[in-house]
Amino acid sequence: MPFSPEAGLQAVRHMQTRASCRSFDDRPVPDELLQEILSAGLHAASGGNLQPWSVIIERDRDRARRLSELCGGQKFIAEAPVNLLFLLDWHRYQVYAAQKDAPFTAYKSYMHFLIGVEDVLCAAQSMETACHLVGLGSCYVGSCNHCGEALAELYRLPQLTYPVVLLSVGWPKTQPATAPKLDPSVLIFEGQYPDLTDDQIFAAYEEKLRGRTLSLPDKEPFRGEMLEKLRRSLATTYDSGKVEQILHAADEQGFINETQRRFGLHYHARDMYENGGRILKMMDKQGLRPFDALDKHEGEDCNEN
Ligand SMILES: Cc1cc2nc3c(=O)[nH]c(=O)nc-3n(C[C@H](O)[C@H](O)[C@H](O)COP(=O)(O)O)c2cc1C
Repeated sequence: MPFSPEAGLQAVRHMQTRASCRSFDDRPVPDELLQEILSAGLHAASGGNLQPWSVIIERDRDRARRLSELCGGQKFIAEAPVNLLFLLDWHRYQVYAAQKDAPFTAYKSYMHFLIGVEDVLCAAQSMETACHLVGLGSCYVGSCNHCGEALAELYRLPQLTYPVVLLSVGWPKTQPATAPKLDPSVLIFEGQYPDLTDDQIFAAYEEKLRGRTLSLPDKEPFRGEMLEKLRRSLATTYDSGKVEQILHAADEQGFINETQRRFGLHYHARDMYENGGRILKMMDKQGLRPFDALDKHEGEDCNEN
């Protein structure tokens, strides 16, 4: 289909207005439109064109509510007329490779895992962009990979599949404002990585995150619990004197900064092994073992079973 550079440029300019949308009205998304969007994802780039991804379309209201609960009670998921659950999917290729006498070990290869997740995101992002171009709002939900086991049950996910990300889609109730982004000077480089000074980096983040804080809860035990969680994270990086100083300042001012929140309260490295290493265990349960080779010795066959 002919598509003029002018129309393309208009689309590119429109992409510069995108923002996550977390509030949807009641209008359904017509099926023909959804099919167009899905088809945009189908044509996304894919390493080796393996396409190791699947997407599950969820339009059922009750299951959308269940999804919302599973993903930490994020309300917009239940409101969205369509939710798209993106999976890393090696199941399909395993079946095919066996019939082609191919030595299939992609589910135990870190490179395949990495490229596979990249592929999932290429497809998802094509669909996200397509949504924006046709006026639909959408928001990614990463927390779906914390409830992988429940999702595996809900959607009868076979072995070698793993939920990577959810995309909630619908007509925006109100147009979301674009989020502040880092200044391109610290993000986009010409030719080589520049010698950015600490001050330049500091200023760029301060500009982007200006005034963003998280208030500590007024009430106990919630306030104490949040400070305790932060204390445990801080203790992996700072000595005890510094930890107390940071916590005292937070308690005095009644808030923590956005960076303390992001790295102190969410996805700390500790979370990978605490609670029995839940996320890695879930991957293991689904048969995905991209770090297997780490346990093997050089020269040993790491492709058994
Ligand atoms: C992988 C990924 C996971 C995300 N997970 C969530 C989520 O669970 N809940 C949410 O409200 N937003 C989520 N988002 C959206 C981000 O919060 C959002 O992109 C960011 O704040 C920047 O805002 P913008 O998208 O409007 O530019 C996610 C985005 C990505 C790319």
